[in-house]
Amino acid sequence: MILQKKGYVNLLNKRTDHFYDKKMFEDRNELSNIGFFDNLIECIEGKIRDNYIINEHTILLDLGCGAGMITNKIKNALNLNTYGVDISKDAINKAASDFEDIVWIVGDISKLPFKEKSVDIMINILSPINYNQVKRILKKDGILIKVIPGSEYLKEIRQLSGLKEYSNREVFNLVDENMDIIDTKDISYKFNILQNNIKYLINMTPLTNKLNENTINELLNISNIDITCNFKVIVSKLK
Ligand SMILES: C[S@@+](CC[C@H](N)C(=O)[O-])C[C@H]1O[C@@H](n2cnc3c(N)ncnc32)[C@H](O)[C@@H]1O
Repeated sequence: MILQKKGYVNLLNKRTDHFYDKKMFEDRNELSNIGFFDNLIECIEGKIRDNYIINEHTILLDLGCGAGMITNKIKNALNLNTYGVDISKDAINKAASDFEDIVWIVGDISKLPFKEKSVDIMINILSPINYNQVKRILKKDGILIKVIPGSEYLKEIRQLSGLKEYSNREVFNLVDENMDIIDTKDISYKFNILQNNIKYLINMTPLTNKLNENTINELLNISNIDITCNFKVIVSKLK
């Protein structure tokens, strides 16, 4: 284990590079700052309140937390002892410099540094998951809230990129096979992004990697754009 000066723990020996780079994490947080994920965050907070009795010892773990903007908003709303794990050092570095009072960990979801049956609430937002680890560390009455994209999520970008419609069926079935689903909610809203913020949208998702330069320039020059946010929020417990 390596303790970093900036206030996080690094459990990985070597740097891992994935789809997401430093700029992506910064711009994802900028988009979150202007409220892009707020309806989703409100929904997650509501699902936690409805399905778990919180006290001052309650532990929240965000699996694949990215640069921590969503983690931090949920922690502040519910006042929980919060941990965020992400495989990207860039993401955790940013999270640790922006948000205090959360334990930030550079680590892999397949090797989580938590004891058996020690976590009350896990959130896993638009990120990969390892069910063996969830089953090992979630408390008997604990809850997992997994958020997966709905078929309409970022459909405007998918259309421009020539990508076919996304189906979340396989990912949903995996939750169902591994966990006892107690509640689900589909949310959909349009979020209007003004011209000076469109760059954040372009940088925060790998879906735009397929766009050519002309399309990107056209996007950057429109006065504003309505973007569809569509998610499935799945609340589950151990079987
Ligand atoms: C789409 S981002 C979502 C980030 C954050 N939950 C959010 O909604 O803004 C997916 C995240 O999963 C992380 N990730 C991918 N594989 C991982 C792994 N094996 N262990 C931990 N995190 C991982 C990536 O680094 C990235 O931050």
